[in-house]
Amino acid sequence: MSGSEDLWEIIGQSGASPICAFDKDCRLIAFNRAHSDEFFRIYAYRVQIGDIFPDLFLPEQASVIRGFMERALKGEIFTVVEEFGDPDVVRPYWEIHYAPLRDAAGEIIGAFHHAQDITGRLRAEAELRSAQDTMRQSQKMEAIGQLTGGIAHDFNNLLMAIGGNLELLSMKLRADHPARKYVENASLAASKGARLTSQLLAFSRTQKMDIRPAELDPALEAAIGLLGATLGPMVELEIRLGAGGFWAATATDQLDLAILNLAMNARDAMPNGGKLTFSSRLCRARPPSGGPEADFLCVSVSDTGQGMSAAVAARAVEPFFTTKERGKGTGLGLAQVYGFVRQCGGDLRIFSAPGEGTTIELLLPRVGAHLADRPSPTPTGLRQPDRGQGQTILVIDDDDSVRTVLADALRTVGFKVMEANGGEEGLKQLSTVRPAAAIIDFIMPGMNGAEVARLAQVRHPRLPVIFVSGYYDTIALDGISGATVLRKPVDMEGLHRAVSSALN
Ligand SMILES: Nc1ncnc2c1ncn2[C@@H]1O[C@H](COP(=O)(O)OP(=O)(O)OP(=O)(O)O)[C@@H](O)[C@H]1O
Ligand SMILES: [Mg+2]
Repeated sequence: MSGSEDLWEIIGQSGASPICAFDKDCRLIAFNRAHSDEFFRIYAYRVQIGDIFPDLFLPEQASVIRGFMERALKGEIFTVVEEFGDPDVVRPYWEIHYAPLRDAAGEIIGAFHHAQDITGRLRAEAELRSAQDTMRQSQKMEAIGQLTGGIAHDFNNLLMAIGGNLELLSMKLRADHPARKYVENASLAASKGARLTSQLLAFSRTQKMDIRPAELDPALEAAIGLLGATLGPMVELEIRLGAGGFWAATATDQLDLAILNLAMNARDAMPNGGKLTFSSRLCRARPPSGGPEADFLCVSVSDTGQGMSAAVAARAVEPFFTTKERGKGTGLGLAQVYGFVRQCGGDLRIFSAPGEGTTIELLLPRVGAHLADRPSPTPTGLRQPDRGQGQTILVIDDDDSVRTVLADALRTVGFKVMEANGGEEGLKQLSTVRPAAAIIDFIMPGMNGAEVARLAQVRHPRLPVIFVSGYYDTIALDGISGATVLRKPVDMEGLHRAVSSALN
């Protein structure tokens, strides 16, 4: 053996990649240690010189490997990726390079291959791809959320001006006035608009929800009870609640709406009738925000309807995504459901295929029942609106139509109202007068509502403050004593209630 042949022997034997050479009958004529070890790993057999290599494989793999070897024996140089191995032992993915072996005259006398187990690399690539997909999806949702939140916020102001003016108008109309029914129709349309914006705000997560622990099964039962006759006689309803005694972080009004939205979708997917099943159970899952597995309560809503293609399922929760004909769907149903579960710290999963029905799972974080004793952050229970009795209220809002309607609504019940179109103007008025309360828009150009309120309370400690906003950030509200938040669009009753509770 020459020195260079020794060197090739050392190189071949010390590599971790299996290498083997074979003659024109596919008999092994040489292999390195790695080849012997790797073949033993995948088939628990030690190869021998002279073995007909394809015969050592399981039948369906034998024809594949023989095909590769024959291509190389015809002179082709190529690389393939294939799974080889005993499925009961281990079956890695191999990247295998083939080339013919030629004698000094250039005649093909056999071929050889060297292989590499790339299972780990493929898995890492797949994980990276899926992580990138998840990230792209969540960035997209975030962007859509910001956009819809912005639109919904402006739209809310408009609705509030429309609804408020209509209420004021209807106060001025006699009960039998012929124009009354037009006002009522318009008010109805405005309140439908308000429901839409609230679904949008739920999706965009700019609307703060009243999330608190609730025993899930009774809450679900109540939500399902609200469906009443909406499902129609063609839909068979089955309810299997299995989360008895467990509590979840949820917002009851949003849960009611989510169940309604899911039931409507199921009904629409089953035009010829079918079965709708609601169930609940305790499960383990990874929180969408990351971290280790935790307890969730899973609400599952299954129908036997037409199902969704993968492309539809991937976009189903986007606001305004709908496959329904004009006028039948706005594409906000699942957006609300998604916004709701995400704000609770949970997640939404869709399992569906065309013709195979749909299952939508809502995961809500499980919480301990003891947390339920937390005091409610928002006042509940109806209070009779107090008459203003000449007390002064300062209204600060940069939106003229919103400010005017708030002011007029307060004047109609006997308050004196001072108006300011921004924080600076409001503070100027506060330097001369101490009102009984201030109503402040939260999002304003320049100084925001929280800053205005803080400065106002420096001048007049314990001045009752009511924020009016579509958006709000509770952290910003923390430092302000006695703040109440009214969500736009505010109806007159809500406004009067907030003012009287602030004054008390
Ligand atoms: N249970 C279901 N079966 C089949 N497809 C569904 C189901 N639920 C949702 N989808 C699909 O997802 C789309 C979006 O649903 P989503 O509830 O957000 O909007 P929509 O029902 O079209 O309109 P909206 O709920 O605002 O009236 C639907 O148009 C439909 O294609
Ligand atoms: Mg829907």
